Amino acid sequence: MNEQELVVQALLPVLKDHLDAAAIAKLIEVPKTSDLGDYAFPTFTLAKIFRQEPQQIAADLAPKINADNFEKVQAVGPYINFFLDKAQFSHQLLQTILQQAEHYGDANLGQQGQVPIDMSSPNIAKPISMGHLRSTVIGNSLANILTKVGYKPVKINHLGDWGTQFGKLIVGYKKWGSEAAVKADPITNLLKYYVKFHQEDQAHPELDDEARDWFVKLEAGDDEAIKLWTWFRKVSLQEFMKIYDMLDIQFDSYKGEAFYNDKMAEVVQMLEDKKLLKKSQGAEIVDLSAYNLNPALIKKSDGATLYITRDLAAAIYRKRTYHFVQSLYVVGNEQRDHFKQLKAVLKEMGFDWADDIHHIPFGLITENGKKLSTRQGRVILLENVLNDAVDLAHKQIDAKNPDLANKDQVANDVGIGAVVFHDLKNERLNNFDFNLEDVVRFEGETGPYVQYTNARAQSILRKAGVDLKQQTDYTLTDRSAWDVLKQLAEFPDMIIRASKEYEPSVIAKYALRLAKNFNKYYANTKVLIADAEKPARLAMVASVSQVLTQSLALLGVHAPKEM
Ligand code: ARG
Repeated sequence: MNEQELVVQALLPVLKDHLDAAAIAKLIEVPKTSDLGDYAFPTFTLAKIFRQEPQQIAADLAPKINADNFEKVQAVGPYINFFLDKAQFSHQLLQTILQQAEHYGDANLGQQGQVPIDMSSPNIAKPISMGHLRSTVIGNSLANILTKVGYKPVKINHLGDWGTQFGKLIVGYKKWGSEAAVKADPITNLLKYYVKFHQEDQAHPELDDEARDWFVKLEAGDDEAIKLWTWFRKVSLQEFMKIYDMLDIQFDSYKGEAFYNDKMAEVVQMLEDKKLLKKSQGAEIVDLSAYNLNPALIKKSDGATLYITRDLAAAIYRKRTYHFVQSLYVVGNEQRDHFKQLKAVLKEMGFDWADDIHHIPFGLITENGKKLSTRQGRVILLENVLNDAVDLAHKQIDAKNPDLANKDQVANDVGIGAVVFHDLKNERLNNFDFNLEDVVRFEGETGPYVQYTNARAQSILRKAGVDLKQQTDYTLTDRSAWDVLKQLAEFPDMIIRASKEYEPSVIAKYALRLAKNFNKYYANTKVLIADAEKPARLAMVASVSQVLTQSLALLGVHAPKEM
């Protein structure tokens, strides 16, 4: 169903000597308010051809247009305005939405091609930062959106579980740590040892030598080093899982940096064979001056491999394993140059598919406009933020609806959904402020507002108690329903746009607009009054609820039926 195409087809017979269908489609506009019609065709470009005033052209052409598919076609000034047939439009649309249910808006852009999404990827022995939260929820939402348009995403948590910092961590643990402390509160204490290491190594440079030795041992597979590393990784991951469980986000793979340890020799060999490696102060680099980039540091002078070397191995591994059609990396904007280098090196190696690699950057979360920092040991624990959000949601539910069943579950859905929604409603690259009170409000541009609107629609349907499946006529001509109907019809386009721009905010903003329009409609219309259009009104309420629920699901937010 494409309404704009109806307009093109109606104009074509009267314009075919001057314009083709594509040219007509390009000129069609959507008027600012729907009392000027649903589509408008401006006649300015025809003035030269017809040697007439645009007003005159519009007035002459309008009566010649076959208006069978429209309520009316009308000349207003230099425009020809098209009013869609509300009866036909509403009937077809509501029938489609209710029949297709959660498949409304499905597309097949991806033709089942696989798309690895590198997302979340926190570092072992460090807390998950707000930045990792962004990567997690944006990546998860993109996975949902890409699935909806026919791709097969693979959610990969590329854990930061290798690197020289593990040498420092082992030294710190052995000097200042204890098994009991790590067991009691793994991340906090491991971070403490790491921070202390950096405080002490100024005065005691020999610590750095010890750390280097331990990392060499780790790379060589030394028993004690491996045992400690395995343990740190395990307890850290257990902490991370708590947060993923709260967010209800699952991964398809936890292959982190360490997984590529035995896969880097091949990469270095390939670089050598292609004569891409250069020596620079004992280190091995790939010169990228042709790309206007700093050289990629592949191997340090002591032979240790680096972040980018592991990413090269990972990119090649993902191509071989998933035969991907696109490969995404949802990582903060500050790593932009790293991903430019990664693509450039792959390109130099002769891999055409380097063009299918996309860095999906995002902005910072701020507090009163300032960057939230993991300052020396002072940590914002994400788990606390999420728990606070749930508490706040609980309080609001207690005030509004004290007798609600499943209060704990609903408070969870609302509190956590609020944090996720707030993250996703902002355009990905923008920085945004995080203030818990604003985020969990039930009014305004928030997740709870959308959830609340959906719950309200559900309560109307419960009250009506009709079985919409028995219904065959969905004709709704009431003018006040028109904006909502038209917006429901936009959903499939929104999903496609979000998938092409890798931009979940398109869906979040759409859901806010739909919720607002629906509430406006509901405030002015007696939905349950018994008249001829009551069944169609209820069908629209059900459709709104379905599309809001779907939109929230694409964002990774639950939609409770009551709240
Ligand atoms: N662990 C890294 C960090 O916290 C993010 C990893 C991103 N993914 C990648 N393939 N480089 O900064």
